Amino acid sequence: MKATLTRMLPMMMTAGLLAGVTSSVLAADAKRVDELVAGRCALCHGMEGESASAVFPRLAAQHPDYMVKQLKDFRDGRRKSDTMSDQAADLKDDEIAGLAAYFGAKKAAAKQPGDADLAAVGRYIYLKGNPYSGMAACGSCHGPSGHGTHQLPRLAGQHPAYLENQLKEFNKRERTNDNAIMHAIASKLTELETRAVAVYVGGLQ
Ligand code: HEC
Ligand code: HEC
Repeated sequence: MKATLTRMLPMMMTAGLLAGVTSSVLAADAKRVDELVAGRCALCHGMEGESASAVFPRLAAQHPDYMVKQLKDFRDGRRKSDTMSDQAADLKDDEIAGLAAYFGAKKAAAKQPGDADLAAVGRYIYLKGNPYSGMAACGSCHGPSGHGTHQLPRLAGQHPAYLENQLKEFNKRERTNDNAIMHAIASKLTELETRAVAVYVGGLQ
């Protein structure tokens, strides 16, 4: 029965037949999600997912599928994090789906552009890569405006300090889950380029 449903689900979703049903099957109820957000996540990420401190990534408008994957990776120990491992340790799959849908549906607030000279260097790298070091353009995967896709994180409007830190962690493989692609990229970035590209994407809407 379960296998049949899994096989049929994509077809039914395409046909729009399960519009109301899928959310109740796959995500925890809204009350439980609100409890978790208000009692836990909001402390660092804010009720609107706009994380006031640059230490905590913004979650507003981030892709739910990407967040589901990251939350499961934190919970199951694939993405190591002193902070998020504890936060995700007891989350059930349906709660993770509900939390990702909650933050993914939030609108990203307007951002302040950073230092214009740095941003100009960052824009070049983001859109054209670095042909001298053989580094691909960020925009070829994350999209020309940094909006990402289901599997690829949105970068637009993210705290530059968080972005910079993740790039350094990818370089050192301290970001422990799925780091192959981003390690290859980050290992080709100089410190100036890392800062510049973070400042540029952080100012995108
Ligand atoms: C005590 C602060 C704190 C709390 C509470 C917290 N987080 Fe986090 N969160 C962080 C930090 C710090 C990171 C970055 C982790 C890293 O890369 O090491 C993060 C990362 C994330 C990421 C990955 C974002 C990305 O762009 O890759 C998601 C998704 C996330 N948190 C969701 C949640 C949810 C949902 C909750 C509530 C159940 C929550 N967090 C509670 C601090 C917190
Ligand atoms: C070939 C495709 C590709 C290219 C080119 C690429 N990325 Fe990525 N990037 C990825 C993938 C895939 C992930 C998600 C890894 C995961 O699932 O954990 C990612 C994740 C990230 C993250 C983590 C985001 C978060 O919310 O934690 C940052 C930051 C990032 N990329 C920045 C960049 C920058 C800056 C560039 C250009 C210098 C770049 N990427 C180029 C594929 C790419």
